[in-house]
Amino acid sequence: MNNFRTLPDDFPKNFLWGASTSAFQVEGAANEDGKGVTIADLRSQKSKYLDTSVSVDHYHHVVEDVQLMADLGLKSYRFSISWARIFPHGNDPEPNQLGVDFYNQLINELVKAGIEPIVTLFHFDCPQSLVEQYGGWANRQAIDDYYHYAKTVLELFGDRVNYWLTINEQSLLANVPSMNGISDSNRTRLREKGENSNYYMFLAQAKVYKLCHQMYPEAKIGPAVSYMTNFPYDHTSANALKSKSMEDMISFIDMDVALRGQLPDYYLRYLKDSGLQLDIQEGDAKILQSGRANYLGLNWYSTSIFKLSDDESPKMLDGVISNVEKVSDDRLMNSEWDFSYDPVGLRFALQKVNDRFPNIPIIITECGWPEREELVDGKVHDQKRIKYLNGHIYELRQAIEDGVNVISFNPWSFLDLLSVNDGISKRYGLVFVDRDNESAKELKRYPKDSYYFYQEVIRTNAKNVTQREIDN
Ligand code: BG6
Repeated sequence: MNNFRTLPDDFPKNFLWGASTSAFQVEGAANEDGKGVTIADLRSQKSKYLDTSVSVDHYHHVVEDVQLMADLGLKSYRFSISWARIFPHGNDPEPNQLGVDFYNQLINELVKAGIEPIVTLFHFDCPQSLVEQYGGWANRQAIDDYYHYAKTVLELFGDRVNYWLTINEQSLLANVPSMNGISDSNRTRLREKGENSNYYMFLAQAKVYKLCHQMYPEAKIGPAVSYMTNFPYDHTSANALKSKSMEDMISFIDMDVALRGQLPDYYLRYLKDSGLQLDIQEGDAKILQSGRANYLGLNWYSTSIFKLSDDESPKMLDGVISNVEKVSDDRLMNSEWDFSYDPVGLRFALQKVNDRFPNIPIIITECGWPEREELVDGKVHDQKRIKYLNGHIYELRQAIEDGVNVISFNPWSFLDLLSVNDGISKRYGLVFVDRDNESAKELKRYPKDSYYFYQEVIRTNAKNVTQREIDN
């Protein structure tokens, strides 16, 4: 008798082909219908590009946008709920009904179109009021407020949502505390606040994992982790170790805590070496142990090469990554914004995650290519994005055939949107939105060439992706 499992030989029939966005990057209507101000709103106002007030106005185009998703053939759509649209101050006694109505409309439209909602609870948009009230995530109180918010959202929408993501790219929030509205003039104190916010976010999520399993035993819930695959600059063990420890600190930490229910040793060592104290209280370890994720969301874009540097000043993030230098590799197709095209890196990353957590279900929650683009006669010929999608889908199939349990692919982004730091001229969408940094114009939507390429991928379950490389 053969007891070995049979490896899949292609994308499964029920594979969820999707696309991804987040609330503040698409919705607009930042001050409408009772929504409270968020850190993302304030950060965008300070940028030299456009702000979140209109964004690409998905709030008022929701029916049209879901129709475009349905025409594309999407099987899933990953979006986020704005905490401050549900609770304008983050912890109001009652939810804001107009905000609830908006997400009910969106979710109902998706369900009607046969599109599985994949819902992120928190994507870079902490309610500003929580920062004013008590410092936001730098304070333990945020655990209870996030839990209350998540519980409310699970109660409101859980009958129609099977996939939940708790926090988007927590490691980024922890290492760039200003993204959570956390500040301090003293650098060491700022890092300590950042690490404590990290710790509170771990605890808050563990409580929500547990709650979700109790409320909806069939549902899947997990973190959306930023996964940047790093390669060492050369064969020296020192560079290889640095590159590994960066991957641990930026990506695996969020997976390790979510799936193993404890703080990993490499993180404890980092805290000790940096002289940073966590606010660990009795009962915390039990909370982490008793609430675990049951799948992973991975945001994967590209690979990077790093080498040790003599310069001690942090080159990346806010302190965690020091003595390191990013090296560009001209052999790869690079974008203006320092993204490289390296699809085999995705297969490599997925194998590593699967080695660490065998057979864990994985949803690719982001994967995308930015370009400056213009509309010509109502069309956008985004050939590089097609090349990017083709290459990554090709390697995704390889990963599935390797035995990695990938269940869904949601490229970033469905629509052109407000990038985190670079306005709308850095476009990622399958659908072009006719606006620029200066003017909202008419916000008309135009499917790009990549939309039609991806439509064929979905229709044929990727039978049109036969070559590793296509020309750009
Ligand atoms: C991910 C975020 O880090 O990268 C998205 O989850 C973001 O919100 C995406 O938009 C691309 O980054 P950027 O800076 O180009 O918007």
